[in-house]
Amino acid sequence: MDQAYFAEKTAIVTGGSSGIGKAVVTALAEAGCRVWFCSRNPVEAGTFPPELAANLYHRICDITDPDACAVFVREVMEHEKKIDFLVNNAAYDGRVELQDADSDMFDRFVAVNLKAAVTMTRLAEEGLAKGQGKAVVNLGTTNWMLGLQPFTLYSAAKSGLVGFTRACARELGKKHGIRVNMVSPGWIMTEKQLKLYVTEQDKQDLLRDQSLEFLLQEEHITQPVLFMLSRASSAITGQNLVVDGGKLMQ
Ligand SMILES: NC(=O)c1ccc[n+]([C@@H]2O[C@H](COP(=O)([O-])OP(=O)(O)OC[C@H]3O[C@@H](n4cnc5c(N)ncnc54)[C@H](OP(=O)(O)O)[C@@H]3O)[C@@H](O)[C@H]2O)c1
Repeated sequence: MDQAYFAEKTAIVTGGSSGIGKAVVTALAEAGCRVWFCSRNPVEAGTFPPELAANLYHRICDITDPDACAVFVREVMEHEKKIDFLVNNAAYDGRVELQDADSDMFDRFVAVNLKAAVTMTRLAEEGLAKGQGKAVVNLGTTNWMLGLQPFTLYSAAKSGLVGFTRACARELGKKHGIRVNMVSPGWIMTEKQLKLYVTEQDKQDLLRDQSLEFLLQEEHITQPVLFMLSRASSAITGQNLVVDGGKLMQ
């Protein structure tokens, strides 16, 4: 990866305070990119190495609130005058079965997992058109491709991101030369997943079902995201890159 490509560029990452988003924020900042990232809660002390502080700009912003998104993107534009990269990462992967879901709950899943990416991309379009990077990455998931249960609401919302990615790639590619791609992880052993969900049996099942016999960490997603942002992927747009150790094969 051409790390120098990211130096002095500007990125927005939604939900960069933990998990995969935190790893992407760290990798971009290490490469010299100025990274504006958001979450609903403050970033815990010690989350990022102190030497990266000069490249990190965290803001409290609930991405399900379009007005808060507009304030966030406006501040980035006031400081940076352009945006090179947008990573739509923040999501909610709650496990809910159909009969346990009401209409409000479905709206909440759509708001964070689908609508927010549309809102952020629309707001960032002007800045991305002015930037040199001209790349958007949406974080997807293999859950809906595998039809995993009980992810009915999450899958319904996340699968919509594929259609958005494709249509947006066509529209923004023609208009500004902006590329829009998706990176879809399998099950990643983040601190939160390990604490809340992953059992020893799950680990064994993953190792059985994957082609590669190791458990995936955040770092396995970071480089594919940076690849899709970098000029190494300059002719790739509207694509969905599955990163799951070879469990799902399309
Ligand atoms: N981990 C996996 O196994 C896995 C598998 C497939 C796909 N993915 C996808 O990868 C991405 C990252 O997942 P992850 O597991 O790393 O997530 P995570 O650990 O749950 O982190 C989510 C991040 O988003 C922020 N966030 C959540 N809701 C937000 C909101 N409404 N507004 C602003 N920020 C918000 C969180 O901070 P606050 O809580 O402070 O807001 C946090 O920084 C997601 O798109 C997910 O669907 C993950």
